[in-house]
Order: sequence, then C-alpha cells, then structure tokens
Amino acid sequence: MKFSRRNLIKSLAALGSVGFSTKVLAQDKSNPNNLPPNLPEWTPDLGAGVDENPYGSPSEFESNVIRRNVPWLTASSQSSVNFTPLQDLEGIVTPNGLCFERHHGGVAEINPTDYRLMVNGLVNREMIFSIEDLKRFPQVNKFYFLECAANGGMEWKGAQLNGCQYTFGMVHNVQYTGVKLSDLLRETGLKPKAKWVLAEGSDTSGMTRSIPIEKILDDCLIVWAMNGEALRPEQGYPARLVVPGWEGNMWIKWIRRLEFGDKPYMTREETSKYTDLLTDGKARMFTWVMEAKSVVTSPSPEKPILYKGTQQLRGLAWSGKGKIKRVDVSLDGGKNWRTAQLHAPIMTKSLVRFTLPFEWRGEELLIQSRAMDETGYVQPYIQDLQKIRGKNSIYHNNSIATWLVSKSGKVDNVRLG
Ligand code: MTE
Ligand code: CO
Repeated sequence: MKFSRRNLIKSLAALGSVGFSTKVLAQDKSNPNNLPPNLPEWTPDLGAGVDENPYGSPSEFESNVIRRNVPWLTASSQSSVNFTPLQDLEGIVTPNGLCFERHHGGVAEINPTDYRLMVNGLVNREMIFSIEDLKRFPQVNKFYFLECAANGGMEWKGAQLNGCQYTFGMVHNVQYTGVKLSDLLRETGLKPKAKWVLAEGSDTSGMTRSIPIEKILDDCLIVWAMNGEALRPEQGYPARLVVPGWEGNMWIKWIRRLEFGDKPYMTREETSKYTDLLTDGKARMFTWVMEAKSVVTSPSPEKPILYKGTQQLRGLAWSGKGKIKRVDVSLDGGKNWRTAQLHAPIMTKSLVRFTLPFEWRGEELLIQSRAMDETGYVQPYIQDLQKIRGKNSIYHNNSIATWLVSKSGKVDNVRLG
C-alpha cells in the first residue's frame, strides 16, 4: 500500500471500526453509572489515608496476579515450586512478590545479625564476612534472569499444562545489588590449584553445587538486594549467589560457604538431579547454560483474544549466553515468520520484551516465537532437541511452544508434529 494521507485516514478508520468496537468474547461487566459522562462512585468521597498500608500492595482488582503452583508437582510446602505469572507482567522486571520460588527444604529464617559467609579451602586467607563486611566492597547493580533447569520440564512428553504461567513461569528477572566475587576473592587470594568452588546453602536441604573458577571470576555475585530492597526470605535473605545465565539450581540461596578445591565435588544436585538422561543410558552432566528461549505471554492460554482487529502480541526472550539479538514470531505454526520489535533495554543474560502488532479476523492461529542470541544460536523445536537427547529428559527444555488460537479467541497449549 502506498503511503498517502488518504490511505492513512482509511486505515485509521479501519482501526477505529474493527479494532476497537467488535467484541468477540468479552462480556462487558462495567457499571454504567461509573461510565462517562457520569461522575463515578469513587469521586465524591475522600479516599483511603496514606498510613493505612505502610508497605503497599497492588490494587484489590489485581488479586489474580499471583504465584501459582501445580498440586501434583508439589511434594510438600517445604519441597515445592510455584510459578511467576508471566502473562500478567509488563516490561522486564519481575516484582519481588511475584518471583517464582523453588526450595528444597523450606525458607530459612535468618536474622542478618547472625549471618556469615565463610570462604575456605584453596585460598591464601580463609575469611568470614558479615553482611556489613560485604557492603564495604564496590557495589554492582545488574539485571539477570534466573531460570530453573526444570522450567518446561513437564512439556518434554507433549503439551501437558495449559498455561503460560505453568509452562514458562519458572523464570524471573530482577535487578540485583551485591558484590562481584572477583572483588571479594582479591581479599582472600586464591591458590594456583583452585579450580572449582563448592557453594553451600544454610537451609535444611543442604543445597550444594560445584562451579568452575572461570565462571566465579567472570560474573558471579553475592547479592543482598533485589529490585531495590533487601532480598525476600524466599529468594535467600539475607544473601544469595548469582550465577548469570546458568541454571537456577546453582544460585545458592541463604549462602553460608564457598569452598575452593581442585576438582568438582560431585554433589547430589549435579550427579543425579539436573542432569539429562540420554537414550544410551548415559547422562549429560554439567550442562549449566540456559540456552536461548522465548514465550508469547499474550495471547496465551490465560490471555485469550477478546476482540477482532488490531492485536498487540507480547512476549519475553532470554539467553544464558548473552544478549538476545532477534525474535521471530509465526502465526501459522512455523510456515511464515515476522520479526518482532525488541524493546530496550536489551541486556546480557536478562529478559527482553518483544511485541508484534497483528490483525485478527477470527481465524485459527498457531502462535510460535523463536529467539536468536548474539552467538547466532537459534531456539529449537522440541523434535530437534529430542533427536539429540532422546525422550528421557526433564531439564533444559528451551524449545518453541505453540499456542492454538481458536475461532472464539480461546488459546490452548498444543504440540505440533
Ligand atoms: N538454594 C538453596 N539453599 N536451597 C534451595 O532449595 N533451590 C535452587 C536455587 N537455590 C535452592 C537454592 C533452585 S532449584 C532454583 S531454581 C533457585 O534457587 C530458585 O530461586 P528462587 O526461589 O529465587 O526463584
Ligand atoms: Co530449580
């Protein structure tokens, strides 16, 4: 179409009549007394006072925007997981009260006065740091995503859980405040033989993981704050380890100790759990990096299409290897692709927001999104992953999902092929 004023007016008129008036599914539950030109009921009387809620919470009309769990995935409330409501979030920041939680032995309750981080093993000086000691080191403020290696784990065998929250919600993206381990370790010094670190949590689960020294010195942090306030107890208050781009299990919460050694410690979490069992009976170990992945958060099973006409498709993409370079979206199950708009800021190992406007005329759609990162890695289909890894896997599913949009606007999680 040639761009002319006449055409612009014509397309704006089309937007007006198709985009904003034809309701397909939405039941209008508005109270007509509150609509223009009436004076709405909240105007005549004074509102609530400022001191009634000193911390602050979301509007009561947002009470469905919460973490949710899947009963059959929850062994007990102590060994449990819940999911971030990605479908209800905007931008790239996960609010602290909505960050999914995964703990293996409940939430440790720690008085920060009694908190210490011990550094021992192959260091020149074994040291113990309090929170106040940590705060004397140069501070960094960094956005990173944390994704559990089991995110999407239920989807390996087919489309299992009908929700964006349940299939993608074991990820959150937070601005952390803390210290670089490379700075902290200048204080202790490292013996030349130090090649691995054992990071140990102080909760009952005895969570321990081995991390190679190169990663520790590259970008790992000890943090005490998220999104501008102290860590939440569920996220490891008063201090946790941040391992950017690597599987969430390594981000030890309530961290009490870093031991330096010359080989991996072969803990339970890296030898039996968080490994990928292949068809020949062998398991891949030490598959730490969370590779490029993306999800369309709206439309999604929780966000049906309510109107015909112009839609703003929204989604999130991330890569443990660096920055997201491009996200393509298909509306026809992968036959045709359009490049979505990426929204700044585009930061390394952080969620990135993408959007794509499209016209919906009430036809069936098969929505997919495919992320590419700065290394050139392209998000695969599950069939591509299964060719290499077989069908025994639970962890590290970064495959492309498909949302089927029915003619009514309803959206379902489906598996193609
Ligand atoms: N650290 C300790 N000490 N105990 C735990 O149970 N769970 C791990 C990791 N660190 C865990 C832990 C797992 S499996 C994940 S995915 C992340 O923490 C979850 O972090 P979150 O609860 O902040 O989302
Ligand atoms: Co996890």
